[in-house]
Amino acid sequence: MKMKILACNNSLFLAKAVAKICNIAIVDSTIARFSDSEISVEINETVRGEEIFVMQSLSNPVNENLMELLLCLDALRRASASTITVVAPYFGYARQDRKPFARTAISAKLLANLIITSGADRVLTMDIHAEQIQGFYDIPFDNLYSSVIFADEIKKRYNRDNLVIVSPDIGGVARARKLSQRLGCSLVIIDKRRNNLTKKAEVIEVIGNVENKNCIIVDDIIDSGNTLCNATLALLEKGATEVNAFITHAVLSERALANINASNLKNLFVTNTIDCKNKAAGIEKIIIIDISSLLAEAMKRISIGGSISKLFN
Ligand code: R5P
Repeated sequence: MKMKILACNNSLFLAKAVAKICNIAIVDSTIARFSDSEISVEINETVRGEEIFVMQSLSNPVNENLMELLLCLDALRRASASTITVVAPYFGYARQDRKPFARTAISAKLLANLIITSGADRVLTMDIHAEQIQGFYDIPFDNLYSSVIFADEIKKRYNRDNLVIVSPDIGGVARARKLSQRLGCSLVIIDKRRNNLTKKAEVIEVIGNVENKNCIIVDDIIDSGNTLCNATLALLEKGATEVNAFITHAVLSERALANINASNLKNLFVTNTIDCKNKAAGIEKIIIIDISSLLAEAMKRISIGGSISKLFN
């Protein structure tokens, strides 16, 4: 069985990097638009009996990118690919995994139905916002963690004697704890609430000692940047000497870049699960970490066998 990648438009750069590492081909395909903006997908070579990894990060424009992915899955299934794995390094709609209010949609579940119905046999993603979303899928679903890559980078750059790892909200505690244990540092938690009217994040309390400490904030998503900038301010007000952040998915919408630039955050490290090099160009405090080799290794293990969890031991 041959392993190949179908590269959707939002993850072309990552697909090329992973294909090079794995020494595999990118499927010849055409993803085009009709004049009314409908998407058309055509696979230009046979994929019969082949193992195809479809790569697409579900970031802005989320709905366009999602539809492109679903049509690629449908085309591959109808073309008799033997297995189809969705590789969505950034998994959109993952913040809507429950009903926080009486009559809301659970869009993460709807997405699962759409992806499975369209033909996916398996899903691979990274630092998904809520791990319980795996339960929405009755197919194998692997979630990779950036904590190994972040820990290596932190060890290279900072003296760990004076370091604390900070979760900017209660929901991120498990992620931050994992990293703090890996580094042997203490954990600080910020009690954050979203204002129901403005939807903006507000800091309520910093739990733990940050006085004279170098604080590293860890999060899965930077969207508007409010969570990060408010946390930075609160930590500096409580006596932290320096604040840096390691955040997996650079969604960077709205005024995020302006907020980050105006903040006293020293450096923001993000990964390239979402291609943000154009957005971040010229902003010296943003540093992009390449995760293509981790993705490539996981895909190889899916294809030829081997433990994915051992990647994180
Ligand atoms: C929320 O629970 C997430 O983990 C992130 O903290 C949040 O999505 C960041 O959003 P923003 O940058 O808009 O505050």
